[in-house]
Amino acid sequence: MFGRVAPVEMEIGVGKGRFLLAAAAGHPDRNWFGLEIEAEYVQIVRLRAERARLLNLRVERIDGKAFVERRLSAGCLAGLHVYFPDPWPKKRHHKRRLVDPAWAGAAARALAPGGTLRLASDHEEYFSLIDGVLSKEPLLEKLCPEEAGDWSTGTSYELKYLKTGRPIHRIVLRRL
Ligand SMILES: C[S@@+](CC[C@H](N)C(=O)[O-])C[C@H]1O[C@@H](n2cnc3c(N)ncnc32)[C@H](O)[C@@H]1O
Repeated sequence: MFGRVAPVEMEIGVGKGRFLLAAAAGHPDRNWFGLEIEAEYVQIVRLRAERARLLNLRVERIDGKAFVERRLSAGCLAGLHVYFPDPWPKKRHHKRRLVDPAWAGAAARALAPGGTLRLASDHEEYFSLIDGVLSKEPLLEKLCPEEAGDWSTGTSYELKYLKTGRPIHRIVLRRL
């Protein structure tokens, strides 16, 4: 896909691509692969990547749940990023949520040893479920705040929530 061999980091739910575009520009030694289900956002990110001449960025209209669970080979990712996944607050919609134990196991297997999964959410209830599910995944080790360091996603949602003072929850896990 990228025409070269380099570590691949993947983001699920790129939106308009603020994180992915900055990551690809800041880390030209890595390949950055974005998944997004909204076709319009895929087009926007492609256009911006082209304008910025980012040859190490690809984005596809792909569902990040099925893709992680069914299509990734073991250890193929150097990093996985999920920022502000849709919380689907209504109980009858919870099955649409991205993170559950099956997804967590598949995501952990797709990461290369030492690779990290980073996730951020403003939704307290969904984040607490995510935290529980990911912390229980035996192939992942949760990093303590000192080890994870001070980081932010730089996404549009994060900027929007920071302006309104809404708390943002973050988690970083390392593949054992
Ligand atoms: C709340 S927005 C966050 C966008 C961006 N990450 C940010 O922080 O600004 C969630 C995004 O994930 C996309 N999305 C939702 N479910 C998805 C899935 N299963 N696979 C890929 N993208 C998905 C939505 O279309 C939307 O663009």
